[in-house]
Formats: sequence, structure tokens, C-alpha cells
Amino acid sequence: MEKKINILGIAGSLRKQSYNRGLLQAAKELAPPSCNLEIFDLDNIPLYNQDDEAQFPQSVTLLKTKIRAADAILIVTPEYNYSIPGVLKNALDWASRPYGDGAWDNKPVAIMGASMGEQGTSRAQYHLRQVFVTLNMHALNKPEVMVNFAQNKFDAKGQLTDPKTRQKIAELLTAFVAFAK
Ligand SMILES: Cc1cc2nc3c(=O)[nH]c(=O)nc-3n(C[C@H](O)[C@H](O)[C@H](O)COP(=O)(O)O)c2cc1C
Repeated sequence: MEKKINILGIAGSLRKQSYNRGLLQAAKELAPPSCNLEIFDLDNIPLYNQDDEAQFPQSVTLLKTKIRAADAILIVTPEYNYSIPGVLKNALDWASRPYGDGAWDNKPVAIMGASMGEQGTSRAQYHLRQVFVTLNMHALNKPEVMVNFAQNKFDAKGQLTDPKTRQKIAELLTAFVAFAK
């Protein structure tokens, strides 16, 4: 049997009812049998401070360990003021440190995102792709999963109900597994 691809999924929102957390949860449900999707919550990652590199916070060490153990990374990002939220950038920064010993290097990565606006995180996603260049991550280009008007696509429990979006996620995961292999 072929080895399963281990994907680490990270959502860039701490909100309990977050659409992006809901999107990541839907990805876990829709993941093809050829992969495992583990979710890492950013709730315990402190604000980056270079002074703290002398003794890395445990939560950051755990994040780096999980990234290293994963074959591929799935990032699910909200859009904040046309860019990625500080919570996500903070985690990207932490796990890129210390210089020369970052955890992101050479990892395949895919992006999804949900926002309440019309553009469905497109601007945040393209900013994120720029960050992947310096992290030396290899981003899947297509399909793009940009969920607009998210307030109409999730139920009151934060579950993704929109069938077209669920289909898109399944397509992305299938393409991502092939890409990561
Ligand atoms: C600080 C801030 C900035 C935002 N900027 C944008 C934006 O640029 N584009 C957009 O579509 N939505 C924007 N929103 C609305 C988000 O799409 C909405 O809050 C969404 O629910 C965030 O994702 P989450 O549900 O995963 O937390 C912004 C929200 C906040 C709190």
C-alpha cells in the first residue's frame, strides 16, 4: 500500500466560530484516503519576541516538531485589511526561527481561505504566497479555494454547508496530495 501523505492544517483565526476553522474542519472530513490531516491550533502561540529565542516557548517547539513531521502544510487564512492576520504571520515568523533552523523549508503548501467580503481572501492569499518565497515553501497554484460571503455558507454551528465549496475543497486536497507526492 502507498504511504499516506501527512498534512498539517493550520487556521489563521482564534475565533471559536471561525469560518476558517470551519473550513479546515471540512477539509478534515473531506480528505481523501490517501492522506491524514492533523489540525494544529494557534491558540497557545505567544507573540514573537526575539529575546524569547534564547528559550523557545514549548508551544512553538511543538509547532516546529509537527511541521517537520508533516509531508505537507495546509494553511487556511482569513483576510484582515487585505492581508493575512497577525495571528498567522506570528506563527509563520516563530517557526521560521532561529535563523538557519526554520521548520518550513522545502515543504509543499496549499492555501484556502474564507471571508465575509466579495473577494474571499484573494488579497490575503496572494500576500501569503509572497511569504512562502522567503520560507522556501512550494505552493500549489490551483485549484484556488477562496470562499466569499462566508456568512451564507456555514450553519450556526460553524459547519460548512455549501456543496460547491465542499466540492472545491475535495478537489484541492486531491490535487495537493498528488503535488506533495
Ligand atoms: C481586523 C479585521 C479586518 C478585516 N478585513 C477584511 C478584509 O480585508 N477583507 C474581507 O473580506 N474581510 C475582512 N474582515 C472580515 C472577515 O472576513 C471576517 O471577520 C471573518 O469572519 C474572519 O474570519 P474567521 O471567521 O475565520 O475569524 C476583517 C475582519 C477583521 C476583524
